[in-house]
Amino acid sequence: MSLDTPASARPHERLAAALADDLTGVNALIRDRMASRHAPRIPEVTAHLVEAGGKRLRPMLTLAAARLMGYEGSFHLNLAAAVEFIHTATLLHDDVVDESEQRRGRPTANLLWDNTSSVLVGDYLFARSFQLMVETGSMRVLDILANAAATIAEGEVLQLTAARNLAATVETYETIARGKTAALFSAAARAGGVIAGASEAEEQALAAYGDALGLAFQIADDLLDYEGDEGIGKNRGDDFREGKMTLPVIRAVAAADDGERAFWQRTIGRGKVEEGDLATALALFERHQTLATARADALRWAETAKTALTGLPAGPIRDMLGELADYVVARLV
Ligand code: IPE
Ligand code: IPE
Ligand code: MG
Ligand code: MG
Repeated sequence: MSLDTPASARPHERLAAALADDLTGVNALIRDRMASRHAPRIPEVTAHLVEAGGKRLRPMLTLAAARLMGYEGSFHLNLAAAVEFIHTATLLHDDVVDESEQRRGRPTANLLWDNTSSVLVGDYLFARSFQLMVETGSMRVLDILANAAATIAEGEVLQLTAARNLAATVETYETIARGKTAALFSAAARAGGVIAGASEAEEQALAAYGDALGLAFQIADDLLDYEGDEGIGKNRGDDFREGKMTLPVIRAVAAADDGERAFWQRTIGRGKVEEGDLATALALFERHQTLATARADALRWAETAKTALTGLPAGPIRDMLGELADYVVARLV
């Protein structure tokens, strides 16, 4: 780890410092592959998002897994860049379907350009990610990441059909979160192990770590939509206005009396949101302790993630992955 990393740095920043050379390589690959010979709109839109930063959590999982398993080649850079391209593509598409106006502290691409540009540039980045994977010559990693790409789309579509449905359950929520988020975390970690020649047991441990980390992360991200400050770089309260059935809502609906149920039917169910409704929703979460329960769920998934790491080689990288699991939940406070 580099000496100029303060001890107070957050776990993903310390992981980034430990993987600094690899990340420089990944960023160079991303810049190289986001180019387009004929359509300047592609690098314009991509650069707007990529240069806004982003935590690079998913590519770091790939790099960390490869390093943890002693990999000495360079295909982990391809895979990490492919993973970030898939993530970037899904964000472009997601901000269109969510009609979001802010991402990574900047106006979204759909706002600055238009929906068409976001959809088509997202498609381009998906295709570019597959080219990067093919270059590794590994059918196994292609299989893992192709499955993840399909599962993400499936999760987003399931979420679309579950929105405004007050009958959605915790199980539905987990299927959505596994699909739209945990699948890529899991595949990112697993692919890094596979390219490094990890054993079947190690591969499964990496996949289980990524899955649990992704679930903890998404539950926490959903909480931030209700209780985060403006510093998260995304609009607060979007999920409420869009009728997303996230854990605090699902549990508050399950515990609702008749009057409360009518409130949820009007707001989440029919999308008739008035001034003051978000504050009422927060008060109902408080009454039924549903933010606290979701926070406890996220903490449990973080513990599951840490347990999965025990089957992997001990050392600083493994320690940082453990701390990352705590951090994705702790970023709530
Ligand atoms: C945002 O992911 C999308 C979700 C799964 C909630 P991140 O919070 O990892 O996004 P960036 O890459 O750091 O902006
Ligand atoms: C992000 O999901 C997109 C994917 C995980 C595919 P959300 O819609 O829940 O997250 P934000 O709030 O836009 O980042
Ligand atoms: Mg969104
Ligand atoms: Mg979304």
